[in-house]
Amino acid sequence: MSTSEPRLRIAMQKSGRLSEDTQKLLKLCGLKLNLTDRRLLAHVSNMPIEIMRVRSSDIPGLIMDGVCDLGIVGDNTLEEEELDRKLKGNKADYIRTTPLDFGGCRFSIAMPEEFEYTGLDCLNGLRFATTYPQLLNRFAKANGINVEFCLLKGSVEVAPRVGLADGICDLVSTGATLEANGLKEVAEVFRSKASLIQRAEGFTPAKQAILDTLLPRIHGVMKAKE
Ligand code: PRP
Ligand code: ZN
Ligand code: MG
Repeated sequence: MSTSEPRLRIAMQKSGRLSEDTQKLLKLCGLKLNLTDRRLLAHVSNMPIEIMRVRSSDIPGLIMDGVCDLGIVGDNTLEEEELDRKLKGNKADYIRTTPLDFGGCRFSIAMPEEFEYTGLDCLNGLRFATTYPQLLNRFAKANGINVEFCLLKGSVEVAPRVGLADGICDLVSTGATLEANGLKEVAEVFRSKASLIQRAEGFTPAKQAILDTLLPRIHGVMKAKE
């Protein structure tokens, strides 16, 4: 690896909800990259940029720790990590460079279809499976209810059926996963979209120059889609 010139390091989701749209955006910005191979840190061939492909839940921390310069991540994942770090007294600084126009979804509480939902109060004392306990906890506190958690990193919708939890709190986009698992959405906790974020410490002039080239392109791509 030649490292004579500095490269702006961008973290993106390796696979999942945001990865396809993220790749599309970077390509439309004119970045030439080959993400078909198994290399997780890949150079962009025509710009001083490198792409690091990771699990989405690791992206906020990589920015907050200054390991990556830029990241593309869902607001839900970002806020969960921020809340979690603040609670533990850890560093949680970043700058939201720009909101993006993809990755829209709701983070919602869902209950078994037969559950008689009469309002948030009736959820008091119940147990919820979720990947984002901090977001749910903040919502519960703000609404004066107490909830318990069961942490699942995926396939959250399976939890009520197998007796792990009374309900779930997870991302809903089309609602197909809820329906297929006998659940109904009862309350929206958080509305999420993808965001471009950057580390809070300033960049070297060389890295800032790369960012100054990239950002107008990102805005241009979003404008063209409007
Ligand atoms: C996501 C999310 C929901 C589902 C929502 O899961 O966690 O389960 O998609 O989409 P829908 O409303 O259009 O059905 P994903 O497929 O990423 O799998 P995972 O939760 O197991 O990681
Ligand atoms: Zn190199
Ligand atoms: Mg899921």
